[in-house]
Amino acid sequence: MRLTEADARRRDEADPGWRDLFDVPPAGGGRYPEVAYFAGNSLGLPPKTTRAGLLEDFDEWARLGVEGHFEAVRPWVPYPEMLAEAAARLVGAQPAETIVMNTLTVNLHLLMVSFYRPRGRRTRIVLEDTVFPSDSYAVRSQARFHGLDPDETVVRLRPRPGEENLRTADVVDFLRREGETIALVMPSGVNYLTGEVMDIPAITRAGRDAGAVVGWDLAHAVGNVPLDLHDWGVDFAAWCTYKYLNSGPGALAGAFVHERHLADRSLPRFDGWWGTDPETRFEMAPVSRPRAEAAAWQLSNPPVFALGPIRTSLAIFDKIGMTALRDRSRRLTAYLLDLLDEITADRPLRVITPRDPDRRGCQLSIRVGQGGAADLTRRLRHRHGVITDAREPDVVRLAPVPLYSTYHDCWRAADALAAEVSPA
Ligand SMILES: Cc1ncc(COP(=O)(O)O)c(C=O)c1O
Repeated sequence: MRLTEADARRRDEADPGWRDLFDVPPAGGGRYPEVAYFAGNSLGLPPKTTRAGLLEDFDEWARLGVEGHFEAVRPWVPYPEMLAEAAARLVGAQPAETIVMNTLTVNLHLLMVSFYRPRGRRTRIVLEDTVFPSDSYAVRSQARFHGLDPDETVVRLRPRPGEENLRTADVVDFLRREGETIALVMPSGVNYLTGEVMDIPAITRAGRDAGAVVGWDLAHAVGNVPLDLHDWGVDFAAWCTYKYLNSGPGALAGAFVHERHLADRSLPRFDGWWGTDPETRFEMAPVSRPRAEAAAWQLSNPPVFALGPIRTSLAIFDKIGMTALRDRSRRLTAYLLDLLDEITADRPLRVITPRDPDRRGCQLSIRVGQGGAADLTRRLRHRHGVITDAREPDVVRLAPVPLYSTYHDCWRAADALAAEVSPA
């Protein structure tokens, strides 16, 4: 390769990132001590502070028993509220507009209970054709829940023939043309398969102008690209925290509800005791009296040991800031793309992520030929210590994560791909 290993090492010295804050899995043999980890878009790596933070919360339980709800160093009852400010900063929201609770698909359902309200001709739900399957299942079941046929209700927008990514203008045109039939627009901010960053402000504007509600699945966007949900006028959003937010397998999710909806008493909502006003919660009244906050969507008392890793992770984002992260992310991903351009030129591999840096986050996706993805990722892992992931049948995804990935990791990935895929 034209770009050498020594050059990658030099780039790491000049632009080191924050790898020391994380535990990187050992390679378990081979030339390098650690794996080259590109699966942070699936499961992020553990921050070193998380272990200690978890133990501190655990020790408070041992020290205080039930009294930890109010007496712990970080009391358990207001624990979710303690995270709201940092979570809000990450998505460009006001603290009252965000809450950490449940998991992503659960939050999407709870938010659709409030915001998917089909009426008359306005029944359809619009998302992208390559939407993550859980979202597809969720919207189809919501349609059925309202007595509608999911095949007629759910619209999946496809790229133009021969193209891999949606064009914003085509999405906006569709929303203008079909607006009167659309109740909900709920795409992903960053597509899980292609890594395409959607134009959230433009699509939100077009959807709302058409009279629809616009919600976003931000699983692959949060911690990856800057977000400004409040100013963009997004109606609602949800995201998980186990990918770029490094909060652990199956970690809790976030939710956003725009300020303009918070005091709307006409919105249907499924209530639980944690959604009522914390000031009067323990009066045990039979009727919920929620505050005008996203916290009103909470149902149950919060799982503190699951919230802890989110606290320590958000502290890292607060310290570094999304601007510095996104800057390094652009440099790192552009470098990986340069490497991939070199090796894909004469191999049956094709990068399908947009080439425009504004239309992608850190992830690059490669089409590798039918049925080859799983086998290729296995060989990359076992022969080279390079961890990528396969999305069947033919996509391999690589996410150099600006917090902990290195230029040398990128070089290793390209070198391994070059070794495993013969020139055509
Ligand atoms: C874009 C997207 N949406 C939804 C989900 C489902 O998330 P959960 O299992 O936390 O509900 C995922 C999981 O990876 C995802 O990537």
